[in-house]
Amino acid sequence: MIDIFAQDVLKGLSAKNKYLSSKYFYDDNGSRIFQEIMNMPEYYLTDAEFEILSMQSKQIVEALQFSQPFNIVELGAGDGFKTFKLLEYLSNNKIDFNYVPIDISREAIDALTQRLKARLPNMSVKPQVGDYFEILKQNKKSDFPSLLLFLGSNIGNYQEDKAIELLRLFNENMKVNDKLLVGFDLKKNPITIHNAYYDKHGITKRFNLNLLLRINRELDADFKIDDFDFYCHYNPLSGEVRSYIVSLRQQDVVLKTLNTTISFDYNELIWTELSKKYNLEEIGELALASNYKTVNNFLDCKHYFTDSLWEKV
Ligand code: AVJ
Repeated sequence: MIDIFAQDVLKGLSAKNKYLSSKYFYDDNGSRIFQEIMNMPEYYLTDAEFEILSMQSKQIVEALQFSQPFNIVELGAGDGFKTFKLLEYLSNNKIDFNYVPIDISREAIDALTQRLKARLPNMSVKPQVGDYFEILKQNKKSDFPSLLLFLGSNIGNYQEDKAIELLRLFNENMKVNDKLLVGFDLKKNPITIHNAYYDKHGITKRFNLNLLLRINRELDADFKIDDFDFYCHYNPLSGEVRSYIVSLRQQDVVLKTLNTTISFDYNELIWTELSKKYNLEEIGELALASNYKTVNNFLDCKHYFTDSLWEKV
C-alpha cells in the first residue's frame, strides 16, 4: 500500500518531462524555509500584502457587510503573519468573530495558535490541521456568514483550469453572500519578479532541494543534493514563473520504497513550481469563471499585489 505522495513522486519522475508538485514543498522543514523566503527583502509579496492588511482592514471588513458573529476561515494559514493585522483590527474594534486557521503543517498551526493566544488572548481561535474541503464542508453548516481567506498568492501555484476548479470548489462550500478574499501577485517589472524568485541568497534553491531531501527521508531514496541545482524563469508575457531542479550530471537515483531507479541525464530538469502573476482584468475573468461577483480589489501602494474580495452569487 503506497501513499499519495509516493504515487505522485513516482508518476512525476517517470514522466518524459519530469515534474514534482510544489504542494510537497511544505513539510515542517519546507514551511520553515518558506518563512525565510518571506523574510527576504526581495520577496516583495509578503510586504505588499502586509501593507494591504495593515492599512485597509477597515475597508475590507466594511465591504463584507456581515452580521455578527461571523467566521474567518483561512486556507493555508502558515505562520499567519499577514493575517495578524486583520485579526488585530477586528479584536481592537470588538467585532465578534471566530478565526479558523487551516494548514497541512501541524508545526506551523501550533506555532500560529500559540502566538495568537499570547497576542490576542480574547480572540476565538479554532485551528484545524488537514484537508481544506472536509473542514469547509463542516463550516458550510455554520449559522454564521464566513469570509474565506486564500492569501499570499497561493492561487498562483495553479494552472488556469486547476485554479478555476479550486475556486469553484471553494464556491460550492460557501453560503450565498459568503465572501472570499484571494491574494494575487500582479504583473510588474520582470526584474523585480526575477529577483524575488531567483534570489541571490540561495534560499529559494534550498526550498526546492528540500523536496529531494523529503523524498530521501520518506521514500528511502538516495538523491545527492550537491549533484542538483536550481533554476527559475519569469515569462512576462504569460506571467508565469517556472521553477526547476537541474541534474548536474548523468546519474541514477534509487527510491527503495518504490522499488525503482530513476535515471537523470546531464542537465535534465524536474519542473517543481508555477507561480503565476495576473493583471486586474485576468483576475476579474477568473472570478466570473468560478461563479463569483467581484466586490473590490485592495492593492498596496506600489500596485505589486491585490487582495481581491469576491462574493458567492
Ligand atoms: C507560497 C505559493 C505563494 O509562489 O510565491 C516562494 C512559494 N516559491 N518562492 C510563491 C514560493 C518560491 C510562493 N507561494
